[in-house]
Amino acid sequence: MGIIYNSEERIFKIDTPKSTYMLGIGDDFGHIVHVYYGKKIEGDTFGIPLPTIDPKNKIWYMDGSKMEYPTGDIGDFREHCIEIKNANGAHALECGYKKHRIYGGKPEIPGLPATFAGENECTTLELTLVDEIAGVELVLIYSAFEDVDVITRSVRVKNIGSDELKLTKILSACIDVDNNNFEIITLHGSWGRERHIQRNKLTYGRYGVYSERGVSSHQDHPFMAIVEGGTTQKMGEVYAMNFVYSGNFEAQCELTPQNAARMVMGINPYQFEWTLNSGEVFDAPEVVMVYSANGLGEMTRNFHDLYRKHLIRGKYKSTKRPILINNWEATYFNFDTDKLLSIASKAAELGIEMLVVDDGWFGNRFDDNRALGDWVVNEDKIKGGLKYLVDEVNKLGMKFGMWFEPEMVCPDSDLYRAHPDWAISIPGREPGRARNQLVLDITRKEVRDYIFESMSKVLHSANVEYVKWDMNRALTDVWSADLAADRQGEFYHRYVLGVYDLQGRLIKEFPDLLLENCSSGGGRYDPGMLYFSPQIWCSDNADAITRLDIQEGTSLIYPLSTMGAHITDCPNHSNGRVTPFETRGIVALAGTFGYELDITKIPEEERKQIPDQIAMYHRYNDLVREGDYYRILSFRENNRDDSYMVVSKDKKEALVTFVQVMHMTSVPNLPVKLEGLDPDTMYRIDEIDMTLSGSVLMNAGLPVKWEHGDYKAGLYYLKAVE
Ligand code: DGJ
Repeated sequence: MGIIYNSEERIFKIDTPKSTYMLGIGDDFGHIVHVYYGKKIEGDTFGIPLPTIDPKNKIWYMDGSKMEYPTGDIGDFREHCIEIKNANGAHALECGYKKHRIYGGKPEIPGLPATFAGENECTTLELTLVDEIAGVELVLIYSAFEDVDVITRSVRVKNIGSDELKLTKILSACIDVDNNNFEIITLHGSWGRERHIQRNKLTYGRYGVYSERGVSSHQDHPFMAIVEGGTTQKMGEVYAMNFVYSGNFEAQCELTPQNAARMVMGINPYQFEWTLNSGEVFDAPEVVMVYSANGLGEMTRNFHDLYRKHLIRGKYKSTKRPILINNWEATYFNFDTDKLLSIASKAAELGIEMLVVDDGWFGNRFDDNRALGDWVVNEDKIKGGLKYLVDEVNKLGMKFGMWFEPEMVCPDSDLYRAHPDWAISIPGREPGRARNQLVLDITRKEVRDYIFESMSKVLHSANVEYVKWDMNRALTDVWSADLAADRQGEFYHRYVLGVYDLQGRLIKEFPDLLLENCSSGGGRYDPGMLYFSPQIWCSDNADAITRLDIQEGTSLIYPLSTMGAHITDCPNHSNGRVTPFETRGIVALAGTFGYELDITKIPEEERKQIPDQIAMYHRYNDLVREGDYYRILSFRENNRDDSYMVVSKDKKEALVTFVQVMHMTSVPNLPVKLEGLDPDTMYRIDEIDMTLSGSVLMNAGLPVKWEHGDYKAGLYYLKAVE
């Protein structure tokens, strides 16, 4: 059992394989204090004194102790997790221990994505706290996994009073840990430049990343880690949080006057106000917490294992994905059945397994100014109809997939002309457009039903085996005709619940469908979406060199199996860079792998490489998808080269990627010191015609080739010699 309660010491102890988390019932009132989070502590007695409360100075206690789930207006002036407003206008919330329950397994969170585990894979603590005066019951839910150093947290709030209650802020997790010369790591970016790693010293005050865009966003990411000063991939203490949510979020860390770091994560309180009538419940989304005493690499591998085993679902959870060719960068809107079939037949000849028809197959969609919402096949373009096209593609031995942007509507569309009120807008105000599109109010069931039915109709009409679900703008002008004036603060969260409802219905109706999420590239790449789709388009920027940073930041948390990565044409459509076709292939191999170019037009010498690239994908994908990931060198840090590797769980094989981004005249590449191998095993490496021990490879390093020119990439496959 990963969780125990020591009733004499009034301490709960939550264990994962290598970490321990403790919280206590701090005083007679039953405030819950945080006791410890860090390296595993064995045993079931601790002798750790809990802070004592002096009723004459309660506020000092509230503001100076480590609190487990700080509440508003009772003296904890650091960032707190929950704020309410009672019918009489009061905000104070002071919850005391009422009861607890410890059990095997993990509950679902109604309406929300969450990690899952069987009875023997996980233990859960539900801690119920009550404030009778405010009429609030809080249930703090902790689950500890048996196989990964992960603790998940979520919170349920119930109105146990007789009057209406407003919930104006609800975060899902908080930790108070003693400062260890902390640095703070977050992920930032923009379109085409998602999830770049940023690291700063943690200083006094509050540092946060937030989204108020309605999606988790390109700009900031629902992830935060505080790390011991100087932490590397292999060394140092790491506390990390990642939010299983796809909308507005807050991730914040405060270095407190007590020299502790308070890190919190949850729904962004921006415009949030949720009404709870008597007896009603609100479930806050889940936060995943990882502790590593051994650097960032171990943190990464915990996240990867958790998400691969306990978050991603469906037929493609742990199988090879079909190698696709997507027509977006090949044709943009300018295609018809003949063009698509010419791409498909050339692709099939070379071993590509699926054709994906991107934006432009429906309604009057000849450019990006019109027709979103009209999910009816445009037979002027798709001559012969969708079934004909799909059947022809299937005859080539390929699967077929297609693009939708279900949450959107263009003012120039049949849908908008029939239901202008379905677009999100504020009465009397012209809603802001982006890419000439508006967002549908999917907080409304009738709107969701329309979307679901129109998509289902198309998907049932032919053998469609893949859907790319796109979402190309942020939310603004939010207001819903279905919500009363005093409930408009529920909009943003209801929108996210709407997305989850729709995607849940879609994969239930089409259980074998491979769903890929996308949001102008990687604008909604988060664990919430991974619960519905095993892969997400990582970025619209597929330039191999820009992708090094993007894929480094993404793989800091998310498994390689989730990262949509394509080989595209050069000069690159986003930044004009020209890189060798081979390098583009090697960099895309770190993700789901596919092509997005006009295969009928690229130079013959590039086309000739495709069968080898495909063979490489088939040879290595099981390893890339399921292995342990190690970040070896970062071009972001050294401005010269980049390297990462994947090692099989049994350490019998490994694949090292080395990208020589900049050739340095007269300074040969240094050997690359590998990680994660068995020191005593001999590994055969055909690419350099050598057999070396794990110990040599990890200490002296792998002698990588030094090539003439920039942007050169190489793969090195290590196979244990029996
Ligand atoms: C944005 C996506 O990220 C692209 O891959 C492509 O699908 C376009 N939208 C189509 O409009």
